[in-house]
Formats: sequence, C-alpha cells, structure tokens
Amino acid sequence: MKEANANTAQSILVRVRNLKKYFDVSAPWITRVIEHKQKTLLKAVDGVSFDIRRGETLSLVGESGCGKSTVARMLVGLYKPTSGTVEINGKDLYKASAEEKKLAKGKIQMIFQDPYASLNPRWKVGRIVAEPIKSQKILTNSDEIEARVNSVLHLVNLSPEDKDKYPHQFSGGQRQRISIARAIAQHPEFLVCDEPTSALDVSVQAQVLNLMIKLQKEVGLTYLFISHNLSVVHHISDRVGVMYLGRIVELADKRTLFNSPHHPYTRLLLDSIPDVTGERAKHGRSPIAGEVPNPLNPPTGCLFHPRCPHCMEKCKHIAPELKTIDFHGIPVQVACHLAQEGKI
Ligand SMILES: Nc1ncnc2c1ncn2[C@@H]1O[C@H](COP(=O)(O)OP(=O)(O)O)[C@@H](O)[C@H]1O
Ligand SMILES: [Mg+2]
Repeated sequence: MKEANANTAQSILVRVRNLKKYFDVSAPWITRVIEHKQKTLLKAVDGVSFDIRRGETLSLVGESGCGKSTVARMLVGLYKPTSGTVEINGKDLYKASAEEKKLAKGKIQMIFQDPYASLNPRWKVGRIVAEPIKSQKILTNSDEIEARVNSVLHLVNLSPEDKDKYPHQFSGGQRQRISIARAIAQHPEFLVCDEPTSALDVSVQAQVLNLMIKLQKEVGLTYLFISHNLSVVHHISDRVGVMYLGRIVELADKRTLFNSPHHPYTRLLLDSIPDVTGERAKHGRSPIAGEVPNPLNPPTGCLFHPRCPHCMEKCKHIAPELKTIDFHGIPVQVACHLAQEGKI
C-alpha cells in the first residue's frame, strides 16, 4: 500500500509489522543430545504485516494451521511475539509500561470460537457480563454496573431477565451473544474474533454475524475477524488477507479479492466454495490438488509452489515478498512472482 499520508495514518488503529511467532517444538534436551538432533522451530507466523483502519473489518482467512489464531493471540497480548511489532493507537503493545498495557488491553477484547468453553458454567449471565467491568474497575457503583449490564444485554438482543440464568440454559447462538456482551461491556475499541461462528449451526451463523455488523456501527468497533469459511468472510469483511503457512499471500478489499483474486492460492480457496450459480464453469477454474505442507519442513522458495499450477523455476528458489500491485487503480498486496510480473 502507498505510504499513508497524515490523514490516513490517523485513522489506523492497529499496525502490525513483520510479526513472527516461532514455537520451540524440539524433543526433550536429553533426547536431542543422545540422538544429535538440533532444536526444532515451528514457524507458526513468519513475518506478517497489515494495518486495520478504525471502524473497519479486516478478515484473515486460510486453511487450518496457517497461523490465524496465533496472529489473533499476539494481537490481544496472549502470546508474546518472537519478533515484530503490534501497535494499537500508535502504542507498541509489547513495549508499553504496565499501566499503558492495562489501558491498551481494556480497549482490546477477544471472542473465541467455542461459546461453551469460554463462559463459566457456574456463574449466572449477570455476573459473567459484570465481572470484567468490576475487575477492570471501569465502574464501581453497583447501580451503574447493573445499568451497563442491562444495556449491553439489550444491544445483543437478550433481556434483563436473562441475567439470572446460567449459560447452559441458552442455545449456542445465544451463548455467543453473551460472550459478545461480555466483550463489549468494557467499551473496547478493537475486537479480535477468532472463528466466532464456526461452532454454531448454519442457521444462527448469519444471525450472529448480522448482530456483529450492527454493533460495529452502533458502538463504533474495529474488527479483526478470523475464519476459514469464505462465505462468512464475504459477509462481514471490508478487506481480506489470505494466509498460507504463516504468511499473508494476498490482501485486498473484499470485492477485488473475491472478484479478481491474484494469488493462485486465493483462487484455490475460492474454487473450494460450493458453487450454486454456475459462475465457476464460466471461469474454467478447477480445484488444485495437494495438501498444506508440514510447517516443520516447509518447501523452499514460494511456500505454495508445490501446489501451484503456474509454478515457474524461480518460484522454487526465491520466496516472493508481499508487494503492492496496481489493479485498475486499486492497490492489491500479493506475494507471487507471476502476479507481480503481471502474468496472472
Ligand atoms: N502452543 C503451540 N505450540 C506449538 N505449536 C503450535 C502452538 N499453537 C499453534 N501451533 C502450531 O502453529 C501453527 C499455526 O496454528 P494456529 O495459529 O492455531 O492456526 P489456525 O488458527 O490458522 O488453524 C500450526 O501448525 C499449529 O500446530
Ligand atoms: Mg485457529
């Protein structure tokens, strides 16, 4: 993307640069010594950079194991990055003072995939939603806390009576709405949503997504939305980043990404959406064979080259960087030699 001028720089809430997370998955020390083995590092996230503008939804999509959740966790402070930076509101999340960190963390909340596991089964809903407000000392007066709990429950279409019920008395979709209420009770600016609808029945997925879209407008939230489901991503996103083996291979506004994918991997993903319109036949695309390589033993050059139908000699040796190309005046970031040379 072009260097942001002063105006656009102001509207960027989250700035991630060259973020990496390597997990040490070595055998125990004694085994390594006996068998003369080296340490083994799993490069779960390997140099990811993106910006999220205030009020927008950026989605990260990609097959299971490509590093989406690891990025999410680094953005909320759950995993310390191996290297790279995460800035929220211009403040480096990992270099901030304890006080600044606490402040920053109140502004960032996360919603997880499993609304069953993320709510304490022994607490009533009223207590679940009130707890972060109390523990963060956002409000101290009990009437005010009660009013805040009522108002966020109302925002997620639950009623004040629901405060006296336990999580198990609700359906999956309702539980996820309780998780959302708990997250927004602290007035966050930035919500990281890791597969928030993946555990839900298809019939309630759209309901929860629409609620999230509504809340974004009403409360003024910024989302990082993570999903392996492209239909869900299409529904909610402004911009979409496609991840493959710990890297972003393409990032563009939703429309351009879905209508004119540049990276062969993005095309593979789009081809895997069940097609009811017959549009697919027109483009003549067909799914590409192969599986995600073992992250412990990644391919050389472009990580996608063993599965790529357009692989050139260069792709086997030189890893393409994520670069911005101009697509009819629209900036598209893509990490593919062919796309960068305008051959795709
Ligand atoms: N705590 C961990 N220790 C070791 N490896 C991990 C850990 N968490 C994730 N991984 C590995 O990192 C890669 C990315 O995982 P993850 O971020 O969960 O992917 P995704 O959310 O896209 O499915 C996977 O290969 C996974 O096995
Ligand atoms: Mg995940």
